[in-house]
Amino acid sequence: MTRKERRVGIIGIGYVGLVTGTCLAELGHSVVCMDIDAEKIAALREGEIPIYEPGLPELLKQNRERMIFTTSLEEVFDNCEIVFIAVDTPPTFTGDADLSRVFQVISSLPGLSSDSHILVMKSTVPVGTGTKISSELARQEAGSIDYVSNPEFLREGTAIDDFMNPDRIVIGSRNAGAGDKVAALYGKIDAPILKTNIPTAEMIKYASNAFLATKISFINEIANVCEEIGADVSVVANGMGLDQRIGHHFLNAGIGFGGSCFPKDVAALKQIAGNSGYHFQLLTAVIEVNELQKRRVVNKLKKHLGSLTDKTIALLGLAFKPDTNDLREASSIVLASRLLADGAYVKAYDPVAIPYAAKAVRGVLLCDDILAAVEGSDAAVLVTEWAEFAELPLEQMKKLMNHPLIIDGRNFLDPQQVRDAGFTYEGIGR
Ligand code: UGA
Repeated sequence: MTRKERRVGIIGIGYVGLVTGTCLAELGHSVVCMDIDAEKIAALREGEIPIYEPGLPELLKQNRERMIFTTSLEEVFDNCEIVFIAVDTPPTFTGDADLSRVFQVISSLPGLSSDSHILVMKSTVPVGTGTKISSELARQEAGSIDYVSNPEFLREGTAIDDFMNPDRIVIGSRNAGAGDKVAALYGKIDAPILKTNIPTAEMIKYASNAFLATKISFINEIANVCEEIGADVSVVANGMGLDQRIGHHFLNAGIGFGGSCFPKDVAALKQIAGNSGYHFQLLTAVIEVNELQKRRVVNKLKKHLGSLTDKTIALLGLAFKPDTNDLREASSIVLASRLLADGAYVKAYDPVAIPYAAKAVRGVLLCDDILAAVEGSDAAVLVTEWAEFAELPLEQMKKLMNHPLIIDGRNFLDPQQVRDAGFTYEGIGR
């Protein structure tokens, strides 16, 4: 095996790229990580990690010797036969995925015609993209490049475990040999490998995310009905989950899903369907329910406080979920702007995301701890279920707040304990 065959390249060292590169190094591969952001690459060379992901700093340190960080695409292609693309594909205003970064990579590939390479798509790209890229590669007379779709199923906060212990590895290729080479990279991982064609692999990724998002919107609507009829959605979800065909996962009712994946991928799948002439009715409802879910919290606040003008609301948690500093499409952002638009003052505390929040939630007073956030507030809303919120300092909070009102947007607290401490408690559907 040549030096080149043993090395793996990663283009785009964002969240997915860095986790993928580090985990491939942990599996024993030498990895060349490339990003156009020179500052980021310089920081990574110094061991500084630009994202918050539990376990990543330690794993990167352990495997540092097998990882090269560079801004040079040539260095990647000179040294690696298999090259992953992990650039981001944010949504455009129409809901389509923006593929400009992907095509920027394709159009700047160094002259490769005498050499064979395998480009592996990790980024989530609309169904049909692989076929388009293959034609673009042929047009560039870079025909010795094979293309493989290998979607990622990493959750922020548990990404390393998701990579090392996946439920499945999906590999879509036209040329079985190229697919086998990519599959071999995961040889040490004990998981089913599903080999298929490229569009099917691309669709598995979208369908999986859209189904999980549908589960969340479904249980959120069940929660809303539970509120009307006096049932408890937590118990309902547990009762449903005991049916093995349903399962317990993704049945936590709350103020809706956020993050860089679900909102974007659900919108993109709806758009992919629409562009092909099919109206995906179910996904339209999934998106709408998710939007309305945030508005319901505002209504709950109004029910207890009347007009929100000049009221102070404390948000506990800003990140789109715990164990991440990611604020993309976080429910907190929508909620904060609705409250501000209603004339309320908004204060917020998050254990990790505060340094990143100033731009995302303008007009919100960012606080260093729970007590500072709730001081002088008329209500506290639990937005993100950070472990530290499981044991809220209820006694001290009650002394500092104007009104003892807690809205638990994640059904995370023990309602009885909160009520016993003298608060009015409202969850979502319980
Ligand atoms: C999601 C998928 O879970 C991953 O499999 C996928 O690889 C990733 O998107 C991606 O496409 O890259 P992630 O966005 O990190 O991962 O977060 P999740 O843990 O799936 O949570 C998404 C949102 O749903 C969060 O806002 C969370 O609070 C919400 N959620 C989740 C609920 O409201 N209820 C639940 O029961 C579960």
